[in-house]
Amino acid sequence: MRLRVFLSPIELSPGAVLGHVVAVIDVLRASTTIATALANGARSVVPLESADLAIIHSRQFDRSEVMLAGEQKLQAIAGFELGNSPASFTSEAVSGKTIMLTTTNGTRALTGLIGARDIVIASYVNHEAVAAMLGTAVRSNTDVAIVCAGDEGHFSLEDAACAGRYVRSLSQRSPKSVVLNDAACACEIIDREYGDNIAKIFGDSSHGKALVEAGFGDDIEFCAELDSQPVVPIYQDRQITRLGPDRER
Ligand code: MLT
Repeated sequence: MRLRVFLSPIELSPGAVLGHVVAVIDVLRASTTIATALANGARSVVPLESADLAIIHSRQFDRSEVMLAGEQKLQAIAGFELGNSPASFTSEAVSGKTIMLTTTNGTRALTGLIGARDIVIASYVNHEAVAAMLGTAVRSNTDVAIVCAGDEGHFSLEDAACAGRYVRSLSQRSPKSVVLNDAACACEIIDREYGDNIAKIFGDSSHGKALVEAGFGDDIEFCAELDSQPVVPIYQDRQITRLGPDRER
């Protein structure tokens, strides 16, 4: 089977992930936020491409069931209940809610995927849970693609490093049968270079620096907490829910 990393959604040609199990990574911060919301009992997260779409879509729900969340230029959107700081998606805030989420890169990377067999959302905070699910795909010989959300079409260090950690885990789970593309090899090298020093990855990345400058340093620490939110968020029928015993693959 093939394990390929795409360093930005722009690299995806039509049909590129047909039949694949796909993991989408926007580790700072959308993937981490989604995992945290679901770990804290949100009913679902609906990724939307703009604030206007989030507002329009929310009207299908009773106002008490729904929350508007997301960021523009890193900041919370005026009139939305939550920004994109994962720690603010507490169980008090999100339990039982359907969350309309719009972010610059992460939600767009998701809504652009077509034809995948399964789409999961990956980060450091749910690494082991998602790696186990992807490992099942690898062992059943299903092609796996890891799509980095990147930064407006460009490479981002933190997504590539996180992708590398998944490549390493999956190669260890099924060493013989996995054929890597060049981006997967490069991401694995980046992961190996940093080891478990996730804080250093974020510190070296331009997105991490921008978040610190904007006053979101605590978010970076949260996003670096390996396996703190052990859920597998799965995107199906335009919404993300938590894979559980009733929805095992
Ligand atoms: C994005 O989707 O680009 C991000 O999650 C931005 C952020 O909130 O840091």
